[in-house]
Amino acid sequence: MNSLLLFLPCAAGLEVYLAYEIYQILGASVQELRTMRGGVQIKAAWRDALLLNLHSRLAQRVLIQLQDQPYQSEQDIYNAAQSVAWELWFDIKSSFKVDITAQHSPLKSLNFATLRVKDAVADRFRDRTGERPNVETFRPDVRIHAHLTAERVILYLDTSGEPLFKRGWRFEKGDAPLKETLAAAMLAASGWSMPVLQEGTSTPLSGSKSGVELGQALYDPCCGSGTIVIEAAQIACQIASGINRRFGFEKLRPFESRLWNELKDTAKAKQVPARAEIFGSDISHRMVDFAEQNAIKAGVSEVTKFRAGDALQRMPPLDGGGLLMLNPPYGERIETAGVAGARQNATTEDGGEFYAQLATHLKTNYTNWTAWILTPDMKLSSKMRLKENRRIPMWNGPIECRLFRYEIKKGRMADAT
Ligand SMILES: C[S@@+](CC[C@H](N)C(=O)[O-])C[C@H]1O[C@@H](n2cnc3c(N)ncnc32)[C@H](O)[C@@H]1O
Repeated sequence: MNSLLLFLPCAAGLEVYLAYEIYQILGASVQELRTMRGGVQIKAAWRDALLLNLHSRLAQRVLIQLQDQPYQSEQDIYNAAQSVAWELWFDIKSSFKVDITAQHSPLKSLNFATLRVKDAVADRFRDRTGERPNVETFRPDVRIHAHLTAERVILYLDTSGEPLFKRGWRFEKGDAPLKETLAAAMLAASGWSMPVLQEGTSTPLSGSKSGVELGQALYDPCCGSGTIVIEAAQIACQIASGINRRFGFEKLRPFESRLWNELKDTAKAKQVPARAEIFGSDISHRMVDFAEQNAIKAGVSEVTKFRAGDALQRMPPLDGGGLLMLNPPYGERIETAGVAGARQNATTEDGGEFYAQLATHLKTNYTNWTAWILTPDMKLSSKMRLKENRRIPMWNGPIECRLFRYEIKKGRMADAT
């Protein structure tokens, strides 16, 4: 249990931020870290796997790699799965589920390959105990992931259970909530929650400090259910991302509640009062209610301030500048009637007029703020009639997006940093 090969998948493009985060969580104990496409691999102990589940804001899951073999047929996949000592990891009474992903696999049916993995696991238990564990697709005790490349089958045991973006505080979703992992990625890439990293590496730019260390204010004027604000507030208070939820590892054999309680107690002892002011507003009163309820459940209601209001009208929540961060409505009719009521002329199908008005409002009233806007709309800057000084690729599930950065100076936006 002291030398496990872990793989932490994350959205494409976030690998270097995840690698930095892993160093922050595990410190000197990190061994053989490899940044790969779509995730980070490390050698680590069982305890580290628990810590990563508890603290990582960017990883989708923490997987233990148990097999990596060449294959050509479904039978090879069966053999690979049967050779893993699953009985060391879970009990015959645990139900399990197999998920499969593939890239360039020559196999015709992934369903059949999944079935072969299930059979191999169940047959291995039957050969040893005379019984087969139950397969359960809805709420399995144990999840096994199989990944097929063109030539190799890789088998993982999932220690997370529900994906890690589910922090356990979401009481109400709202209509189009960001995944918590993506909100965390926006905060990381902007330099708010971690120092700015040298391009393509997980090494901080020299002299760069995170915005939260500097106490930089943060405001999401289209906050919806409050994901960015709540994620930021938990970071500012050093609240562990997984403190409110259960994990798959609790059903695995090596699990000991004494160690787990110790790790959670240590995490709780590190919580601090917020080191930054964090605000959210939304044109919809309903959304603001959701955000407030979510903040209570996330333990950050004291440090977040939500208001109803139109992003095209709201003034900065405090003097002196800070960071605006938002994913504005997209691909839907932008309704602006809300609180402001009278103003109708920003209602356009493609958001063009909305963004032009937003830019004017920011230039007039948000001098010394930096705006970070996440959108799949690659024409954002021309709609804002502004020049961004950074654009960072990010994926919102299957949707390719950009995180645009605009530095707001009086009456204009800076062209470049
Ligand atoms: C894509 S959602 C943001 C989701 C949010 N990040 C979350 O995680 O729940 C866009 C939000 O913008 C809000 N909105 C639309 N027009 C607005 C306006 N003029 N001013 C403020 N908020 C607005 C919508 O009510 C919606 O909640």
